[in-house]
Amino acid sequence: MTPLYSIAVVWLFTYALCEDFCKNANFFGGAHTTFVNTPRPRDSPVLSGHNLNKRSTDPDGETCKSLTGFESTLKNNTHTYAFNDLSGSVSLAWVGDGTGVLLVLTTFQVPVFMIRLGQSKLYRSEDYGKTFQDVTHLINNTFVQTEFGIAIGPDNSGRVIMTGDVSEGGGSRIFRSLDYGHSFSPVDLPFFPLIQTLYNPNDSNVLLTLSITLDLWLSEDFGSTWRKIHDSVCLVRWGPEDSIYFTTNSNGSCNDKGMLELKRSLDYGKNIKTIASKIYSFVLGGRFVFASIMTGSGTQRMIHVSVDGGDVWNMAQLPTVGHEQFYSILAASDDMVFMHVDEPGDTGIGTIYISDDRGTLYSKSLERHLYTATGGDTDFTNVTSLRGVYMTSVLTEDGSVETVVSFDQGGEWRPVQRPRNSRCDTETATNRPDRCSLHIHALYSISMKMNVPLLPLTQFNAIGLILAHGSVGDPASVLSPDVYVSDDGGYSWLRALTGPHHYAILDSGGLLVAVEHTSAPVNQIKFSTDEGQCWHVYNFTSEPLYFTGLALEPGAHSMNLSLWGYRVGLQGPLSHYWVSVTIDFKQLLSRDCGEGDYVQWLAHSDDLNNPNDGCILGYKERFLRLRKDSVCWNGRDYVITTQPTPCQCTLDDYQCDYGYHRGENSSECVEQADLKGHVLEFCLHGTTEQLQTSGYRKIPGDRCVGGIQPKRKEIDLRRNCISNALHPKPLTEANLLSSASIVLVVMVILLISAATGVMLIKKYVCGGRFLVHRYSVLQQHAEANGIEGVDELDTHTTEMGKTHYHEDSDEDLLE
Ligand SMILES: *[C@@H]1O[C@H](CO)[C@@H](O)[C@H](O)[C@H]1NC(C)=O
Ligand SMILES: *[C@@H]1O[C@H](CO)[C@@H](O)[C@H](O)[C@H]1NC(C)=O
Ligand SMILES: *[C@@H]1O[C@H](CO)[C@@H](O)[C@H](O)[C@H]1NC(C)=O
Ligand SMILES: *[C@@H]1O[C@H](CO)[C@@H](O)[C@H](O)[C@H]1NC(C)=O
Ligand SMILES: *[C@@H]1O[C@H](CO)[C@@H](O)[C@H](O)[C@H]1NC(C)=O
Ligand SMILES: *[C@@H]1O[C@H](CO)[C@@H](O)[C@H](O)[C@H]1NC(C)=O
Ligand SMILES: *[C@@H]1O[C@H](CO)[C@@H](O)[C@H](O)[C@H]1NC(C)=O
Ligand SMILES: *[C@@H]1O[C@H](CO)[C@@H](O)[C@H](O)[C@H]1NC(C)=O
Repeated sequence: MTPLYSIAVVWLFTYALCEDFCKNANFFGGAHTTFVNTPRPRDSPVLSGHNLNKRSTDPDGETCKSLTGFESTLKNNTHTYAFNDLSGSVSLAWVGDGTGVLLVLTTFQVPVFMIRLGQSKLYRSEDYGKTFQDVTHLINNTFVQTEFGIAIGPDNSGRVIMTGDVSEGGGSRIFRSLDYGHSFSPVDLPFFPLIQTLYNPNDSNVLLTLSITLDLWLSEDFGSTWRKIHDSVCLVRWGPEDSIYFTTNSNGSCNDKGMLELKRSLDYGKNIKTIASKIYSFVLGGRFVFASIMTGSGTQRMIHVSVDGGDVWNMAQLPTVGHEQFYSILAASDDMVFMHVDEPGDTGIGTIYISDDRGTLYSKSLERHLYTATGGDTDFTNVTSLRGVYMTSVLTEDGSVETVVSFDQGGEWRPVQRPRNSRCDTETATNRPDRCSLHIHALYSISMKMNVPLLPLTQFNAIGLILAHGSVGDPASVLSPDVYVSDDGGYSWLRALTGPHHYAILDSGGLLVAVEHTSAPVNQIKFSTDEGQCWHVYNFTSEPLYFTGLALEPGAHSMNLSLWGYRVGLQGPLSHYWVSVTIDFKQLLSRDCGEGDYVQWLAHSDDLNNPNDGCILGYKERFLRLRKDSVCWNGRDYVITTQPTPCQCTLDDYQCDYGYHRGENSSECVEQADLKGHVLEFCLHGTTEQLQTSGYRKIPGDRCVGGIQPKRKEIDLRRNCISNALHPKPLTEANLLSSASIVLVVMVILLISAATGVMLIKKYVCGGRFLVHRYSVLQQHAEANGIEGVDELDTHTTEMGKTHYHEDSDEDLLE
């Protein structure tokens, strides 16, 4: 279940943001400083009386006891490593899970006319980053392309591939390791790779890659020998059970979208079957295969779905898209998908639809959903720490961006409750009291270059916990967002830290750490053992460093945290050198947690008198969670303890059926005005089905029993209809020239501490196989004056760009 490998990224932000922070820095004062947050009132009347099951023994929960004596303990467990290296960028890769092996690749590049001159150095640590060895000789001092970086094998395979930039002999050279990067052996490739090597998730000996001439190459012996299995390939993906999916062009141009063929091989390329034609784009997600296919004469396109790997296709009941519009799958599980359909015109908004369990029928979930077509930026976030919770942003009628949250998998969305301990700007409050909600900053804010260093952070094993930057409507808090924490999956929030911070979750949520995001050198790290209520400060060094990011093993099991940054040497600004400070927090939490340290907590609980209290998607779950006042170690082997109980069905367990939508403020589904009286028909398996419905359809994955069971029937009308992906015929009159793309999922997660987030998303949302990460080098850059950084963020907004870079791979280049 745990993500086993990852590459983490850090880069230096270019924002200059002193004022707000310098002030704060003084405020935090001495070593034993503790800051007290205004407590959450006992029964905060948040969200219709949502009642937090208190896990604090302290009934008022406000006194932060100052923790004493940790300073010397931590000092004894702080390890500083200074790299004798002037390189401009650093990439980090964790190899294996719990091995403590960390590979660090530094690259130094100078573009000289059309050629790149570069130098790479490779370092390796076996103790979670406390000490490193220079192992550059293992790759024979070859320059490793940052675009390809380090490809880490899936699971605990210990496999590593580095792609070297050598141009002798008409091919490229890779270095392969089978032993967690302890030794490497070189292999010369008969081609130049265009994309990162893709490991078969089921068998790390089998590799796929595309060459710059668009040939698809496969190796079954971990890269020793390669065999070409197809030419003219545009996009390739590993599917479940050793299957390979790829699109090909007949014309030599992958830009000729809508003319591609989708092919599949189940035997490593020996037999290849065309499963759909006139393909615009395809995505594998959950157990679904989605393809956008041109409708006949080829100007509009529609989504087709297959749940059997591409043998039988059905048309998704979604609006067709035309000129410059796009579809995007925001998240997909085995049960359902969230699909964004762009609005016509360049509005930057669209509608979220949620699918049924076949991916065929959709119902509207959220309108005015913010998703800018140009940058592919959406705030859509799966809150992995609590089942059914999602956050995203809408563009309100008056043009402002507002965060909304859904606790029932997209059934209902509402603004985020304002934290009790934050003031809403009075003017805003009096004029627009409804505006006084918490705005969570995610990808959109980051793309707008706001002062937000990290995306919201959640961890599968840190139940209920969310850390995020937010603001509450007043302009000052928008300029300098604060860090907010929720411990109940987003129902209630607490302002935890003033100003932007880098943050990380350790020990399955038992320990939170944060470092201020500032352009000045730092020497302090803050930590909290009570889910962000009280924070303590530790001066980790006497020589402050220019901090660039946090690094910790993905999975949040670790207690070893590295702070990366650089110092400027005595020879002046050009002599900066990288420094990593690793703090082992294990001694801080001196004892292992025992039974008495955990209490029961009912997720999604808001009304203890309601028998259906806590029911989400047909069941409620009680978790054993750490008491807030327990200072102890969950341990690496900590597993979530949960007791699911089934619930009775209510209207909330149903989504509105095709042709219906939810009435305002009500659970009831009403018929869509424009479809009233129409016979509802749709195409399934090539025949027309008539839908007889009272308007409700069970939410995919909902496990409720008994209770309300609305009637619903699909009648086969035995009339043929078209849902054949192989030879699509015109369905609609062609009118618009289609030029937009299906935007595959773009979930970009920032910086190291978010590495696990992506791994979890990849693993659980996408079946590990279809996320497209916008490519960026995981790097820390230090430039001449030591303050300004240049980020080499390579944003490929075009489909081609995506196909050419690290879209989906088992290596994770994260942003
Ligand atoms: C910790 O660092 C802060 C700011 O650099 C400084 O003001 C404070 O005196 C330091 N505390 C100790 C105990 O060194
Ligand atoms: C830290 O280490 C020193 C010397 O190794 C030792 O004397 C001291 O007791 C240690 N302190 C703690 C809190 O472990
Ligand atoms: C290292 O590279 C040099 C120059 O390309 C080559 O002559 C030498 O054989 C290589 N050594 C190994 C061990 O690969
Ligand atoms: C992995 O491969 C084995 C055979 O090598 C096969 O039986 C199994 O179904 C595959 N599992 C997945 C998830 O692909
Ligand atoms: C080949 O590409 C050209 C230009 O993109 C296009 O007009 C033509 O229809 C394509 N031919 C085929 C057979 O796809
Ligand atoms: C922290 O690092 C040490 C090695 O320096 C390792 O023995 C220990 O297991 C690590 N702790 C955790 C919780 O991963
Ligand atoms: C829905 O609720 C809001 C606020 O509670 C209210 O202003 C609005 O009038 C309600 N709408 C309907 C149709 O009842
Ligand atoms: C959201 O994340 C959870 C936990 O990782 C996962 O189980 C679920 O399938 C995800 N939801 C979707 C729609 O992908």
